[in-house]
Amino acid sequence: MTASDVSAFRTRILHFTDVPDPLTGAGMEYFDDGVLLVENGRIKALGSAEDMARQGLDLQQCRHTPEYLLMPGFIDSHIHYPQTSVIASYGEQLLDWLNNYTFPTELQFSDPDFAAVAADAFLKFLLQNGTTTAMVYTTVFAQSTHAFFSAAEKMNMRMIAGKVMMDRHAPAELLDTPASSNADCRELIELWHNNGRLQYALTPRFAPTSSPEQLAVTGQLYRDYPGIYLQTHLSENQQEIAWIKSLYPGARDYLDVYDYYGLLGPRSVFGHGIHLSDAEVVRMVQTQSGVAFCPTSNLFLGSGLLNMARLEAAGIPVSLATDIGGGTSFSQLRTLAEAYKVLQLQGQCLHPLKGFYMATLGNARALQLDHCIGNFEKGKEADFILINLGATPLQALRQSTAQSLSEKLFALMTLGDEHNIARAYIMGKLAFRRTDSTQGALVWMD
Ligand code: GUN
Ligand code: ZN
Repeated sequence: MTASDVSAFRTRILHFTDVPDPLTGAGMEYFDDGVLLVENGRIKALGSAEDMARQGLDLQQCRHTPEYLLMPGFIDSHIHYPQTSVIASYGEQLLDWLNNYTFPTELQFSDPDFAAVAADAFLKFLLQNGTTTAMVYTTVFAQSTHAFFSAAEKMNMRMIAGKVMMDRHAPAELLDTPASSNADCRELIELWHNNGRLQYALTPRFAPTSSPEQLAVTGQLYRDYPGIYLQTHLSENQQEIAWIKSLYPGARDYLDVYDYYGLLGPRSVFGHGIHLSDAEVVRMVQTQSGVAFCPTSNLFLGSGLLNMARLEAAGIPVSLATDIGGGTSFSQLRTLAEAYKVLQLQGQCLHPLKGFYMATLGNARALQLDHCIGNFEKGKEADFILINLGATPLQALRQSTAQSLSEKLFALMTLGDEHNIARAYIMGKLAFRRTDSTQGALVWMD
């Protein structure tokens, strides 16, 4: 092995080893002056610069950026790549928003060239926002899923994605069939699932746009490919829930539709889950199915306030997601800010340490990816970001008055956005470098 296989990053470093306890500091590691060693794209070591020097590391060899905070890349557990340009579409709640804005936009993705350009742009938006892994909906067109995986492969990003399955209640040109979705999914899975850093998620859009036959096909695929993921939407909007009752009169509740077809489990991620009944919560816990909390989307579409404390107390894995384009920002910082406000409206608090845990190791755990990403354990894939805490004069001012790490992180998540992401590294390689932000030199005044 040559010396050039190893890179050393000397800076402020934060990561989580478990759910953090703000009182004791358990579950997290923070270094004011730390070194992250990366070898062949994986974490080799993490420690204080002092300890590393004592063990023989030449600190002169490090890339030294004391003005930044280095963290694991953010993870987004629910996002739609074809909806980048749907962001900020005015005036509708879920079902009208789908019909008036989303479906017409997704139609454009039948063109593989269009889809390839959009996939490339989408992945760049993620990186600019410090997000290095996401669980992604494509469109009903298999070619749009191929385009997405090809783009992610080129950028060597760890991604979970799947073709939308949808055979009713949408424009005819956007519909597949149980048979065609079965064939498309099998081909996509064979080609892309566990291909490098890519994994496949079965993606029935939601129960109203899939016939019982298509949900049965989905269940069969889920059983046929152990280790595959499943993503869909659940209990987001009251009109949607009423529609489910009329479409599936025999089902006990919304979740029961998915349950009946065998779609629940620890690799199933349900977007939203805002209006779950007690019985649905119990069943989610029994099956260890996850909820993706999408605060900017839930506010923007007027869907409701997720009672995160209730779901977590019951034992449901809750992850953090943008839900672009119902959501209004790619930034997990902005998402944390809105999550905080959603919880405040319900008398709950999102501690900043918990928030940053969710955006990194927590989401890795919720997506069953914590064996390879989410923190800086030795051997994990080196996807990480450098954060400038003072990207605007106001942020710099607020940071200069913040005393503790928690205070600094809270100001970051409350005021921050993509402009705070200075650099993003994929498997140890620089993949994004911001050129338009001020330096963070004012921020750390200790
Ligand atoms: N429910 C079904 N499809 C969608 C979608 O694209 N976005 C959101 N937010 N909810 C959905
Ligand atoms: Zn969604």
